[in-house]
Amino acid sequence: MTRDYRQMSTQFKYQLDTLVKIGVSLSAENNLNRLLDMIVFQARQLTRADGGTLYLLADGRLRFTIIQNSTLGIHRGGESGHRIDLESVELKKDNVCAYAAILGKTVTIADVYESKEFDFSGPRKYDAITGYRSQSMLVVPMKNHLGAVTGVLQLVNAMEQGTREVTPFDEGSVALVEAMASMAAVAIEKTKLLEDTRALFNSVIEVLGVAMDAKSHYTGNHIQKVAKLNIEIAKAIHDDTEVFPDIRFTENELEEIRLAGWLHDIGKVTTPEWVMDKDTKLKVVLDRIHLIEERFTRAAEELVKAGKSADAERLMADLQFIRDKNRPVEDMRDDDIRRLREIAGRRLPVAGHETRMLSDDELRNLVIRRGSLTEEEIEKVKEHAVWTTRMLEKLSFPDHLKNVALYAVQHHEKLNGQGYPTGVGADKIPFQSRILAIADLYEALSARDRPYKERMPYEQTIGILRRQAENGDIDGKILEFLVDKDVFRRFEEKYRNGHNGHAAYE
Ligand SMILES: [Fe+2]
Ligand SMILES: [Fe+2]
Repeated sequence: MTRDYRQMSTQFKYQLDTLVKIGVSLSAENNLNRLLDMIVFQARQLTRADGGTLYLLADGRLRFTIIQNSTLGIHRGGESGHRIDLESVELKKDNVCAYAAILGKTVTIADVYESKEFDFSGPRKYDAITGYRSQSMLVVPMKNHLGAVTGVLQLVNAMEQGTREVTPFDEGSVALVEAMASMAAVAIEKTKLLEDTRALFNSVIEVLGVAMDAKSHYTGNHIQKVAKLNIEIAKAIHDDTEVFPDIRFTENELEEIRLAGWLHDIGKVTTPEWVMDKDTKLKVVLDRIHLIEERFTRAAEELVKAGKSADAERLMADLQFIRDKNRPVEDMRDDDIRRLREIAGRRLPVAGHETRMLSDDELRNLVIRRGSLTEEEIEKVKEHAVWTTRMLEKLSFPDHLKNVALYAVQHHEKLNGQGYPTGVGADKIPFQSRILAIADLYEALSARDRPYKERMPYEQTIGILRRQAENGDIDGKILEFLVDKDVFRRFEEKYRNGHNGHAAYE
């Protein structure tokens, strides 16, 4: 008797110890699937149960969430990657789990085949298929901090150590599993709350990105694509063991990278649409070429009336020239600029008034050498990086995401210190920012949906990126790795397929 007591005591101490450890690990786990797996596994360890099932209460039914069985080698739900296709259990008292959930009471059964109290036709059917023999059972309701039942933990076939002979669940086990079940219920609620909050946070950020993309029809899906490419690049580097053997990202670091991608251009919310969409030099909400057309046509009419047909013809040729020069180019010729100035200097009667053929502002826009934006407008575009900084500074990121803002705001910085908004150099630009800068540039170059630009062939895009690397703008080692592993092209393919053939940016 004394020896038995001492044995029991040792066993009890072990169980208590295990219970405390379980409590600690349950509260530390923030991944819901891992947590659920852990609950069933630990409860089985605690009671030496062969199998365990965890049900969660949802919409008035008990949903199979985890199934584990050591003898049958089964692990479904949770982190296993195997879905559970069983129908959820209706809350009717003849089912033992439903009974435990409805009454909030623990049920122990020595042999389910001999039980008259509950309907075990389900487990019997399952046994008939698998050749298993369900015998002893412990069914414990899981109650949250308010005492409400949120799920049920069902353990099957407690086993004698060594012999693996099936025995009933003893009283000590019942008390321990009950204690554990309520810790588990609280941990599940906490983790669910965390995941819900995270999901909400993520969806808000993605909605912002999508809305930003919708703001300009030219930039297409820029933010969405950069966000996806950015994380793809990070993962490729993380997985690589040759070029970047020392670079590994933790889950939190990957999350920072992902969020930085989604938020990098958030400051564009402040960029005027007419600047974002300025696809001709004269466009400011409306394309002012129409005003010039009107002016020139009227002046030409008056010239014809005055019998100066040749001058009228010349004027219409000038108008055609202006129309042509209103379209942005990579590098405008000096000759063209001279001719525009000459046209602008001319005065002709329009509706009875001496009128300058081009205003100062029209001329200033028409002589833009490259692209369609004036210096001031380029500055306006660049301001988005400052706004990204200001806006992200206002968001209170939790500690494990504290670098999101830094990576996001640095996407236009250059290693040689010639970028913006702050012009910091390589020593202040972390790896994650370098990845994002490349993802951003690659997308901007390769996208077709920009003013005055056809889609650039892959080789040409890489050629430009290489020159930028040589120039010290971007990280050449990362770039060469990506080209070498064909990360960009594999991403393009994946991205296209991900859009179910709708090819969002094709
Ligand atoms: Fe940007
Ligand atoms: Fe961008």
